[in-house]
Amino acid sequence: MNSKEILLFDNRNDADQLLAKQTIVELAIDGERWLFTKYDESYFLFEKHCPHFDYPLKESPISGTGEVVCPWHNYRFSLIRSGSESEQRCRPLRVIRARVDDQKILVAFNSG
Ligand code: FES
Repeated sequence: MNSKEILLFDNRNDADQLLAKQTIVELAIDGERWLFTKYDESYFLFEKHCPHFDYPLKESPISGTGEVVCPWHNYRFSLIRSGSESEQRCRPLRVIRARVDDQKILVAFNSG
């Protein structure tokens, strides 16, 4: 399996400024749209639509335990661990934890 790392932000302050205005920001990365957020000092990308019935997740709240809560049926998808209760009812939400290197924010995508 190959991995490709992409630079999201040169400076994490830029990301923090964006996320101060809205909890979830939509980003275009390599021709695909992702949602970007921060929880507990870590940054995450996750897919735009709910794995349950495809509802847009951009306006979802992030719970105090790091779960994306879908506004439609309230399924909860953890950013930080797998095996949430919702994953027993539908497939998991695709989540990628970003890596912070000095001030840069990078994400690795697996392919192949
Ligand atoms: S569409 Fe998200 S919980 Fe049903």
